[in-house]
Amino acid sequence: MRFLVLTMMLGLIAAPAFAAESAADADKDAANIFNSTCGWCHQGGGRVAGGIGPKLMNSERDDEFILNRIRQGKEGKMPAFGGSLNDAQIQALLRYIRNLKPEN
Ligand code: HEC
Repeated sequence: MRFLVLTMMLGLIAAPAFAAESAADADKDAANIFNSTCGWCHQGGGRVAGGIGPKLMNSERDDEFILNRIRQGKEGKMPAFGGSLNDAQIQALLRYIRNLKPEN
């Protein structure tokens, strides 16, 4: 019982800090996930064409399309990541793609 109360108190104190951290962390993670998981098909961090997958920077696709493509992949072309990445990670990948700027 004492353990439960303690856990609840810690939860209350820790929750806001974790929430703030995880949004920033998710964006940092997205770049890492992209580099390790997507980058070998989407070249230049998603900035350039000419790889196995298309350029993603300045995509004219809407958010829903991009989220679904990441979740479901495309048969024979791109693996589905809905099973290996959670929703926060997939949303962060969408933000990563939207924020891509040319490298100088
Ligand atoms: C095995 C290679 C491969 C990997 C790995 C891969 N993709 Fe793709 N991706 C493709 C190909 C090929 C297409 C084009 C599919 C088509 O013909 O519509 C594509 C399409 C996309 C599209 C839609 C682009 C558009 O305008 O149609 C997005 C967004 C995307 N990929 C994001 C990602 C993300 C994010 C990851 C990592 C989590 C990833 N891809 C991993 C090959 C890959």
